[in-house]
This record gives sequence, structure tokens and C-alpha cells, in this order.
Amino acid sequence: MRQVRTLGLLGTGVIGGGWAARALHFGVDVVAADVKPEMEAWIRGAVANAEGALAKLTFAPLPPKGKLTFTTDLLAMARGVDFIQENIPEQLELKQRVLADVSRVAPADVVIASSTSGLMPSDLQKDMVAPERFLVAHPFNPVYLLPLVELVGGARTSTAALEAAARFFTYIGMHALKVRREVPGHLTDRLQEAIWREILHMVNEDVATTGELDDSIIYGPGLRWAAMGTNLIYHLAGGETGMRHMLRQFGPCLKWPWTKLEAPELTEALIDKMVAGTQAQAAGRSIREIERQRDAYLVAIQQVLKQYDIGAGATLRALEQRLYEDAGAGAQQKIAAAITKGRAGALELMELEVRPEWIDYNGHMTDSRYLQVFGDATDAVFRFAGIDDDYRKAGHGLYTVETHMTHQAEAKVHEQLYVATRVLAVDDKRVRLFHTLSRRSDGIQLGTCEQLYLHVDTRAGKVAPMDAAVKARLSALQASQADVALPAEAGRLAGKAAG
Ligand SMILES: NC(=O)c1ccc[n+]([C@@H]2O[C@H](COP(=O)([O-])OP(=O)(O)OC[C@H]3O[C@@H](n4cnc5c(N)ncnc54)[C@H](O)[C@@H]3O)[C@@H](O)[C@H]2O)c1
Repeated sequence: MRQVRTLGLLGTGVIGGGWAARALHFGVDVVAADVKPEMEAWIRGAVANAEGALAKLTFAPLPPKGKLTFTTDLLAMARGVDFIQENIPEQLELKQRVLADVSRVAPADVVIASSTSGLMPSDLQKDMVAPERFLVAHPFNPVYLLPLVELVGGARTSTAALEAAARFFTYIGMHALKVRREVPGHLTDRLQEAIWREILHMVNEDVATTGELDDSIIYGPGLRWAAMGTNLIYHLAGGETGMRHMLRQFGPCLKWPWTKLEAPELTEALIDKMVAGTQAQAAGRSIREIERQRDAYLVAIQQVLKQYDIGAGATLRALEQRLYEDAGAGAQQKIAAAITKGRAGALELMELEVRPEWIDYNGHMTDSRYLQVFGDATDAVFRFAGIDDDYRKAGHGLYTVETHMTHQAEAKVHEQLYVATRVLAVDDKRVRLFHTLSRRSDGIQLGTCEQLYLHVDTRAGKVAPMDAAVKARLSALQASQADVALPAEAGRLAGKAAG
């Protein structure tokens, strides 16, 4: 199976738009194909709408954004992409026909996946050419913020296709949950439907309104569910003896039973009650307004979960680790080569493009992003020196104690920039770095940053000597840069230049 540089989308509605936004954000090109030409404007709008929240998800260095193209020629799309994700309406015969058509022209090493909410992969792959590269990859709305994707193979799906799909989805920041065998509704929608049936019963019988039923979740279980599923939560409910005791205590009520299993008839009266209830909850807010609020808290909650390395936060942490490693990989080769040569000068470690969300009200790159890109260059130097997750887990780290930045020219949206870095000084406990930020097109220097780091024993909370091998690598880099004149801004205080 091939490396995915271009993702093809078949159907560009709500779900296709979400896939596009996610893939583009993480540097994958997208060819979006839909039978309706008017969907081009729609998908471009959907991608732009997702950008605000997506941009806040991580500050880790991202590759340049992918490029979006649109076509109504489904087969042309299928000929030219590395992975196809189908998102057309949930109708078995339609999906079977379109998937079969596309499979006749897509090369056999191109994985084809379906976003179907509940159809079985064995049914969908029935008429396909090379059906072994087909699987269900079921995402959740909004696809650009929710990391879960359920991967389900059919009778003829190969392990290689499932693994290739899992690799691709992980690359674009998702949690690939492999479903052991195909069942209608996969895992999540089966669970969600059980709750939904109960909601319909209770609204139908006037036990509660839609708003009250939502309250019964959001003030209680909903807060737990983001980090621990029902099973682990019930294990806690059993006290010291956990799940065994919980089942003994609450098991009998499964016989009563509390729940109804069969959904009620969807009568016009029930539909009206569901609609009136949710309209009251929306309280005049448009779908877009509610979506924006949802997106903002989905970003914030994942950042909180990241601190606990749990659930979607663990996925985000792993994604950031990968982004830093990718950004640092080129830098580390450059450092190693420069040291071997013995004359490094200031090393160009980071290449970047000014992203639209980095622009402030003055129309140029905002201050905090300067610190962020200088920090990414620092990260690359420290990784080269051997300061990585293992080093930190062992209780050591370099803490920033002083920063001095200058801003010399404006950086505008989409300009290509680079950061060049020097090690000015190293001793047992201190490292002093100096970065310049410049524009690629004319080499104009836009700003500088000098930082002092102290090496700490993080468990003792005290300054402590660094590992000898780490110091040796930093010193080798410093020595290779020693014959370059000290930058004019080095050691300068704020306002000193102006007297
Ligand atoms: N909406 C959700 O919350 C959600 C969540 C997960 C999965 N899904 C699944 O994703 C799929 C798409 O759902 P959606 O909500 O995006 O639907 P949608 O109606 O918003 O979009 C479907 C798109 O497919 C296009 N289309 C129709 N026939 C086509 C064809 N023959 N070739 C190419 N394009 C065609 C339509 O023009 C439309 O743009 C369904 O299988 C659904 O079950 C939906």
C-alpha cells in the first residue's frame, strides 16, 4: 500500500468536508469529487469554517497546508489519488455501484474506505475490483476535531489494507479503533442508538423533554465519558472490589428492566415533540453558532485531556510528538553534518510558512508566534543533544529562564520564512541560544531571539548538571559555530540600542 500524499473524497457533504479540513490541515492534498458542481463552494466554505478551531488544536510545527481541488469527474479523481474515502448518502445500492465503478480505475494498491455509519463492509465490497483493499473507516462529526475512526474489515478485506488505513489515519491525528468483526452499526453507533431509542420513548411518553434528557447527560455522565468509558466508570462504581461487586449490586436491575429495547413508532406527534424540544434548546441560535461553540470546547477539552495523557488527549499528545519529530528530523541531519564539517555558522533549522491564523489585527505575524517558531528551533537543537521524552521522564530538563526578542520587519501571511540558530554558550548547567528569523525570498531579517536555559533535576526541583553526553553534543555544536562574529543583538537589553 502506498504512502498517502493525496486523499480522494467521494461525496463532499458534511462528512466529506470534515475529512477535507483534517487532511489539508496536516499537509495532505485533497481531490474532492461530487456529482453536484455546487458542492465546490460548499466544501471550500466548510474547510474555511473548520480552520478557526483546528488552528487552535496544536501549536506543534505543522507541514505546509495541503492543496484542495474539486472535480465532478469521479473517475478522474480515482485515477490520481493515493487513498479514497467515500462519503456519499447512506444507501447500500448507491454505495455498491459507485464503489464498484471507482474500483475499476483506482490502482489496486490504493485503499478505498467508506464512511458508512452502519452498513457492512462485506456488502459494500461485493462488486469491487480488488476488494481486499476496501474497508469501512467510520468517522464522527466534526471529523476535523474528533479523533475516533472505527476501522472495520469485510470478509475479503486484507490485513495490509487495515494496517495501511490505520497508519494514514494516525498520521492525520486520529485514533484508529479496529473493530474485531463486522456488525450493523459498528460499535459506537450501536451504543448511541441504544440511548437514542430511550430518548424517543421518554419524549413520546412525556417523561421528559429533549432538553431535560440532554441535561441528564451533560451535567453528569457526559463529563466522565470524555476520559473514561462506561465500563471503567462502572468498575469504579463497585468500590474496592470493582466490576465484580458492581455487577452483583446492580446486575439484578437488568431483569426489571429499565430500558425498552424496541424503538417507538416515529409518529408525526413524536417528531413534532423532538423538533420543538431541540428548537427550545437552540434558543434562536443558528446551527453554525452552536457548531462554533461545540468546536471551541472540543479543542479545549482535548487540551485538558492531553495533560492527563488520557483518551483523545493521548492521541493529541502522540500527534504532537510525531509533528515535532518530523520537524526536527531534517534539522538534526543538518546539525550532525555541520559538526562533522567543523564549520557550521548559524544553522538554518526550521522552514515555515506564515499561516493565516497567525496574523494579528495589524495584518502581520503576531508576537506569540515568533516565540513559537523560535521555540520549535530550540526543540530541534535539544532533540539533537538527546533531550527527548525519555530524558524528561528520567527527571531532567532544560527550563527557559530568560528570553530577549527583537522585531525588525513584518512577516505577512503565506510568506516563507526560516530560523537560523547558534549555540552561544554551554556549561554544566546552562545553555544560551540565539535565533534569527528571516524571509526566504530576500533574506531580510525579521527578528531575533536570545534565550538562556537552566538544566534542572525536575524531581528535586533544583538546578543540576546536565548529562555529560548532552553537554558534549551541545559543546560540539557551539565549537563548530565559534568562528562566526557575535550577532549585534546578542546580550542586548530592551531599549539599549536606542540609548
Ligand atoms: N453526518 C454524520 O454525522 C455522519 C457521521 C459519520 C458517518 N456518516 C456517513 O457519511 C456518509 C455521508 O454522510 P453526510 O452526512 O456527509 O451526507 P451529505 O448528504 O451531507 O453528503 C453526501 C454527498 O454525496 C454527494 N453524492 C450523492 N451521490 C453521489 C455520487 N453518486 N457520487 C458522488 N457524490 C455523490 C451529494 O451531492 C452530497 O454532497 C454516509 O454514509 C453517512 O452514514 C455521517
